[in-house]
Amino acid sequence: MYDAGKIVPGLVLFLAVVTFPFWLNVANGTSSAAPKLELPKGYTRCVEATPVMRATHMELLNRWRDLAVRHANRVFTNSNGQRYVRSLTGTCLGCHRDKKQFCDRCHGYMGVTPYCWNCHVAPKGGAQ
Ligand code: HEC
Ligand code: HEC
Ligand code: HEC
Repeated sequence: MYDAGKIVPGLVLFLAVVTFPFWLNVANGTSSAAPKLELPKGYTRCVEATPVMRATHMELLNRWRDLAVRHANRVFTNSNGQRYVRSLTGTCLGCHRDKKQFCDRCHGYMGVTPYCWNCHVAPKGGAQ
């Protein structure tokens, strides 16, 4: 029925071909896995752990907006007990001042265009 002697080398070859761009990037010291992001200087941590932020910052922002605007609840306490004001421009962009080299760069790469900036302003601080 199954010829393991052919299937296994076949699978290995298939994986090698499919992941070839990845290995090429490793070999070149570059990566197509993620764009180069400008992280805020002088800070080591986001409002929550980085993997959590990467995966769920959209939901976090939606919650912040609803709580701040509808419930006048503007103080966020993170999982470490640190407090932040629930504000897109004041808090997120207070640290991530260079929106273009951070938010926009990743969104551009992922093909996402949040409409928030129709109303909210990005600080004029870092390189625009
Ligand atoms: C106190 C400063 C600070 C605030 C406030 C802050 N961040 Fe961050 N953020 C950071 C730092 C520093 C990192 C990188 C941490 C690391 O190196 O792992 C980061 C990482 C991230 C990442 C992950 C980037 C990656 O490498 O994939 C996202 C997404 C993000 N922040 C979005 C936000 C959003 C949205 C807000 C507002 C809700 C926010 N940040 C508020 C400092 C901050
Ligand atoms: C590491 C990559 C990355 C970084 C950095 C990043 N985002 Fe995102 N963001 C995403 C992805 C991917 C999505 C789409 C997620 C989805 O559709 O489920 C998204 C979606 C969003 C959305 C929801 C948009 C919508 O139309 O649903 C908002 C709002 C947002 N990001 C804000 C920010 C802000 C503000 C920053 C900078 C402080 C930021 N993001 C930084 C990857 C990133
Ligand atoms: C049509 C205009 C408009 C758009 C588009 C918009 N907002 Fe807002 N947002 C407002 C207004 C007005 C307030 C109330 C300001 C206040 O009370 O401080 C607000 C408040 C907020 C707040 C809490 C207060 C603050 O200073 O940030 C958050 C968080 C927020 N919005 C997130 C978002 C996100 C994320 C998006 C995009 C997915 C978005 N908003 C798109 C108009 C808008």
